Amino acid sequence: MATSKHKVVSQKEWLAARKALLAKEKKFTHLREQLAQQRRQLPWVKVEKEYVFDGPKGRETLSDLFDGKSQLVVYHFMFGPGWEEGCSHCSFWGDHYDGMGVHLNQRDVSFVVVSRAPLAEILPFKKRMGWNFKWVSSFPNDFNYDFHASFRPEEIEFVVDTARSMEEVLTRDIKKVPALRGKTVVNLFFEASTRTRTSFEMAGKRLSADVVNFSSATSSITKGETLLDTARNIEAMKPNILVVRHPASGAPHFLSRHLSCSIVNAGDGANEHPSQGLLDLYTILKAKGKVAGLKVAIVGDILHSRVVRSDLHSLGRMGAKMWLCGPATLLPREMARTGATLTSDIREAVRGADVIIMLRIQLERQKTAYFPSLREYSRRYGLNRTVFSLAKDDAVIMHPGPINRGVELSDDLADCGQSLILDQVASGVAVRMALLYLLAGGSHAAH
Ligand code: CP
Repeated sequence: MATSKHKVVSQKEWLAARKALLAKEKKFTHLREQLAQQRRQLPWVKVEKEYVFDGPKGRETLSDLFDGKSQLVVYHFMFGPGWEEGCSHCSFWGDHYDGMGVHLNQRDVSFVVVSRAPLAEILPFKKRMGWNFKWVSSFPNDFNYDFHASFRPEEIEFVVDTARSMEEVLTRDIKKVPALRGKTVVNLFFEASTRTRTSFEMAGKRLSADVVNFSSATSSITKGETLLDTARNIEAMKPNILVVRHPASGAPHFLSRHLSCSIVNAGDGANEHPSQGLLDLYTILKAKGKVAGLKVAIVGDILHSRVVRSDLHSLGRMGAKMWLCGPATLLPREMARTGATLTSDIREAVRGADVIIMLRIQLERQKTAYFPSLREYSRRYGLNRTVFSLAKDDAVIMHPGPINRGVELSDDLADCGQSLILDQVASGVAVRMALLYLLAGGSHAAH
């Protein structure tokens, strides 16, 4: 924390502020205890599948992990296949497990740490950290997926496969199928968009849905109507899908709790942009044939980027080695928890990269000065020919758009043969057709 501008007050004022904070801390502790109680009261599920883990003693079943005790505590340590090190938050707790085990054992409780990484990757990291607790790999089984600790790559692959079928439709003379005839898609956009809004509109039309575009600037929002009231009024007209973009993180999730139609997040604040994450994955798969093992460097305003957060899910989940690069002020340290490598040196990020995703500086979301000037930012974090020459010879350049030419990306690189920027836009239609189809479509939608 910067201390130079910190407020200095009298002892009396400090005590009053401390007491006010203490009251909040007590409330928080109370809420946490309530939550812990609710966790203990969660219903149980009978485990009938046999899960076999790779552990220090070889193959061990879930029953073996109880180690003769009546209860087993399983900690999911975020450490996926191919990661060089585990999540830093989990590692903080890892530093305390060796002391805790003995107390749990006294209470007839066994304790085990589980990760998706293969045991051969877990053991060197465990040794490096000097830990002794029991750590097993769920790599050979479905334990993480069945208990909702990890997304299944198959779920992402299913969307990608559907997008491939949709792309075939887009190659036909008549680029239209009747899959969503009679369905209505409403694009509810509370923030500017060129690509996403047009792409969802085109996707809906290609599937024969009725598509209605809503713009907040010409709506009753300008007269003071709330987001929920606006959305409820639109839902009263019986759409099947609302595609929502909003400057507030969580707005689509909020609406999904109140409305019964399907909601698609088309970008919410600095939180997520899931369809962009999927189209980035799709574009890379088309260009490179695979994602697993590729070095993907994302450079720019990481802090405010919803694209990064979704790319970490889509590309990271499919096994890419993710590198995030930007000025230290725009590079949240906790993002290392996802397994991504963080650096403020663009050369380190780009060196040997297969894919470079450049991001725009999001001045509209920045509440303070994160760097001295755009000129300096461009000099240190802009991609130009010299920096790009450090990447693999066949490296590709991507950008979710809109581009600020000459700031994050030089003009010639934006339009060069290795730029996939317009391919991303083209992929967007196929991917969004897949999403709309799977949400409101035909026989496959039940999956
Ligand atoms: N990539 C992206 O979300 O672009 P738009 O803001 O133009 O939709």
